[in-house]
Amino acid sequence: MTAFSSTQTFKNLEAAFGGESMANRKYLFFAKKARELGNEEIAKLFEETAAQETQHAFAHLDLIFAKETLTIERILELAENGERYENMKMYPEFEQQAIAEGDAEAAHEFREQAEESKEHAEIFAKAAKRFGALKRVEGIHADRYLAALKNVKAGK
Ligand SMILES: [Fe+2]
Ligand SMILES: [Fe+2]
Repeated sequence: MTAFSSTQTFKNLEAAFGGESMANRKYLFFAKKARELGNEEIAKLFEETAAQETQHAFAHLDLIFAKETLTIERILELAENGERYENMKMYPEFEQQAIAEGDAEAAHEFREQAEESKEHAEIFAKAAKRFGALKRVEGIHADRYLAALKNVKAGK
């Protein structure tokens, strides 16, 4: 069953997804650090655990996104919206706060990532457009095929 978005459980699923996702990236980062520090065994331990955290995060996503609602159009739209939010709201606010606190390094990092989020949003938007156009063309082909089939069946 997919949780309803108004419930506490839905919020908990989102929080749990966030936590597992973070654990995944953090452990990959720690693996890199362990390798840099010359400890291959601990690096591998972090990599293996990171892979399991990805599966934990995916299990939460399966409950957050109802399978029947996820079309190609919808997943591209969800991705574009997320990147636009980062580009237009999250990073600009974070940058301003970093400037206000005199943290030039963080401000610079936020500005750079805002730009990359914008690029990602545009890539997703373009992919959605291409997919839409392709679908229309395929639709036309399917219509023509059905019309031709009808003619054949009618003996025309
Ligand atoms: Fe986990
Ligand atoms: Fe991004």
